[in-house]
Amino acid sequence: MSNIRLGQWLCALVGVLLLVKTQGINVGITYVQNAVAKGAVCLDGSPPAYHLDKGFGTGINNWLVHIEGGGWCNNVTTCLARKNTRLGSSKQMATELVFSGILSSGQKFNPDFYNWNRIKVRYCDGASFTGDVEAVNPTTNLHFRGARIFVAVIEDLLAKGMKNAENAMLSGCSAGGLTSILHCDNFRALVPMGTKVKCLSDAGYFINTKDVSGALHIEGFYNEVGSAKNLPLSCTSNKRPGLCFFPQNMAQQIRTPLFIVNAAYDSWQIKNILAPGVADPHGTWHNCKLDITKCSSTQIQTMQEFRLAFLSALTGLGRSSSRGMFINSCYAHCQTEMQETWLRADSPVLGGVTIAKAVGDCHGCLSSTMRRLRLPRERVHSLANISDLPRPSSQSRGQPLKAALLINYDPTGPSRLLSTMSMNTTKPAGEGAIVTQTAAFLLVALYDGSIGSASRAMVVVDQLAWQLGALGHMSITRCKPGLSGKLFKTRLAENLINVRI
Ligand SMILES: *[C@@H]1O[C@H](CO)[C@@H](O)[C@H](O)[C@H]1NC(C)=O
Ligand SMILES: *[C@@H]1O[C@H](CO)[C@@H](O)[C@H](O)[C@H]1NC(C)=O
Ligand SMILES: *[C@@H]1O[C@H](CO)[C@@H](O)[C@H](O)[C@H]1NC(C)=O
Repeated sequence: MSNIRLGQWLCALVGVLLLVKTQGINVGITYVQNAVAKGAVCLDGSPPAYHLDKGFGTGINNWLVHIEGGGWCNNVTTCLARKNTRLGSSKQMATELVFSGILSSGQKFNPDFYNWNRIKVRYCDGASFTGDVEAVNPTTNLHFRGARIFVAVIEDLLAKGMKNAENAMLSGCSAGGLTSILHCDNFRALVPMGTKVKCLSDAGYFINTKDVSGALHIEGFYNEVGSAKNLPLSCTSNKRPGLCFFPQNMAQQIRTPLFIVNAAYDSWQIKNILAPGVADPHGTWHNCKLDITKCSSTQIQTMQEFRLAFLSALTGLGRSSSRGMFINSCYAHCQTEMQETWLRADSPVLGGVTIAKAVGDCHGCLSSTMRRLRLPRERVHSLANISDLPRPSSQSRGQPLKAALLINYDPTGPSRLLSTMSMNTTKPAGEGAIVTQTAAFLLVALYDGSIGSASRAMVVVDQLAWQLGALGHMSITRCKPGLSGKLFKTRLAENLINVRI
């Protein structure tokens, strides 16, 4: 390790220590002992557990139930390997956890949820709380009872006061974020009718796509995890259970309001869905996965294609006013639990809005922020293939513009021309350019120099600016250098170049 790298590590370490010292609070564990009698137990048969920090003031009747993440196990070998770890046994869990980000009790750090009852549910079943197998093999002593744990924990919280909840939100990160999607309507059904309920999935929108070798690696893996009984029936009635683990195949049927926070370059998904070790036997992705500044241009391109696949899979959410999303272009996984990504002066923003604000506003779910960040299906399509943008304006029919350029516009740094096009001007005397600035882009339309073509150019630019303005919220993002870096800030927009009119 070079001195520079070491320095960065030390900086990161100091940062983490400061974070813990100034922004986190330690919250003790509660074991749900009475769950054992219901057979609602961790992989090893131990009772499930959660950490609860009580609400106060105006938040006393509001409840945030946040589910811990930690991947999945897909067969006896991998489930045995986690059985005697904190992800399979409450005997191995730390008895105190630091609450920060969305779980923070500091108003400044968590303005919308700081005084709610905040719960972190520990993950110990290995299947995003979906398993429910009565039989226990005496040789392995493995219990697959995640679905029972979910119910037992919620019942315990209801008894502790959640039965009086005015607002309740089910959230979670990673495998826990998937849980909050899979169990969203179940949660709704378990809390009282009068409670306003929302679900929030952070880094839980795992997509079904091919890995770099062309294999459907993640689909094969989920086929082995998926247990039909506790996945949404609306999906399992016509698809294999494994496929119903993917939000893109089942989220549309969810009736409860759902908000998705996810990086389009989700680092876990890049590492384990796009370029898992089995698909990369020569380890060509090894360094790139650890440090995106080490990725080759081909690898960056592959990651950008992954982003497009991700955006396309988001259409599986359906079009509904009860959906919201915050999809940024950081190389990150889980952004609600850490203060630095949730809410800080330098945390990620989209269109000036932090994750904390987007999620907080979605709690009302009709606020303007929410509407602005919601992404209708047709936008996703046009983003997935910018050349499919509707060709604007009957006025320009028959006399197309020569070209249009999209320039990466970064108000904090020098703008950069992302694409150059050769002009083949038939009227060398007259050329002009219309330059329009949107929140995230400069749009430049070039035209032959007559009044008529200039006004056509203006119409075209206006229409494109409008469309791209909406896309801009998704496309330009501020990422922490350590999490993601300048690389994507400058490179991600390359997906959007070459808008030919
Ligand atoms: C269990 O799953 C892991 C990960 O997919 C795989 O490497 C291993 O071969 C599997 N083991 C068995 C016994 O199926
Ligand atoms: C984009 O559109 C072009 C032309 O219509 C098509 O050939 C290409 O496959 C499309 N790409 C995607 C990602 O849809
Ligand atoms: C410019 O346009 C003319 C007429 O359309 C064409 O013959 C010529 O090849 C073009 N030149 C370039 C460099 O594209």
